[in-house]
Amino acid sequence: APNINVANVQAHLNQFQSISNANGGNRAHGRPGYLASINWVKSKLDAAGFATRVQSFTYNGATGYNLIADYPGGDLNNVVMLGGHLDSVTAGPGINDNGTGSASILEVALQMTATGFRPTKHVRFGWWGAEELGLRGSTFYVNSLSTTERSKIKSYLNFDMTGSPNPGYFVYSASGQPSGSLALQQSLQAGFQSKGVATELTSVGGRSDHAAFARSGIPVGGTFTGAEGIKTSAQAQKWGGTAGQAYDRCYHRSCDTTSNVNATALDRNADVIAHTLWAVAS
Ligand code: PHE
Ligand code: ZN
Ligand code: ZN
Ligand code: ZN
Repeated sequence: APNINVANVQAHLNQFQSISNANGGNRAHGRPGYLASINWVKSKLDAAGFATRVQSFTYNGATGYNLIADYPGGDLNNVVMLGGHLDSVTAGPGINDNGTGSASILEVALQMTATGFRPTKHVRFGWWGAEELGLRGSTFYVNSLSTTERSKIKSYLNFDMTGSPNPGYFVYSASGQPSGSLALQQSLQAGFQSKGVATELTSVGGRSDHAAFARSGIPVGGTFTGAEGIKTSAQAQKWGGTAGQAYDRCYHRSCDTTSNVNATALDRNADVIAHTLWAVAS
């Protein structure tokens, strides 16, 4: 797997920040900064040769959008999906939540083309709308699939908040939640281990888009660097950062800007995403 250049991921985050600045300070469902974010990610993937489509839905009287991008080739009966939500809350630009996951899977997608990766499985990416309003976009996507199409998705990997400023290194627990995949958990853990980074398992339950896939019985996994939770002293010992403070003090606030990202955590998670995709899709 390629080592992901964090500068490329940061450049994508700068783009999300600019979009927010030009659109009233957020990228929320039903606001112009959301569609601008969709269009920008789509343009990058189109230029790289992905087959993209925008799926519209309605929630709360506003149109929402999912972006689906297929990497050409691979076994269409054996699909690996990676996703994250592209919407922010209305309070701010949503750079850690979830510009980080969105930008990281975008860069991993672009590196598939750049390196000429030829996976045996088919690889599909999703950027979800209206997660912040109750997993609306991802749920709409899963419900839009026929039973047959749904059964072809063998794994779903979710990335929501991967650059928290006071980071933890959490891997979704296979046993701690519905449809958790031990294979995905272990591949993500192995990715961190190869970089010498200690991890903890976490039960994220229904708090992000993987839950929409889990409800259909699709095996799920993911990583997370923490939100409003407080870092313990034991965690600060092994991971650095500040004990007694939130992993992300700007969670759902206007200060969730490009200043609210830990570049080391962002880089490590992006590298682990690539490690796991290359391992799972080969
Ligand atoms: N989904 C939450 C949000 O967007 C954040 C979160 C992600 C919480 C993963 C737990 C696990 O606000
Ligand atoms: Zn890297
Ligand atoms: Zn959020
Ligand atoms: Zn989120």
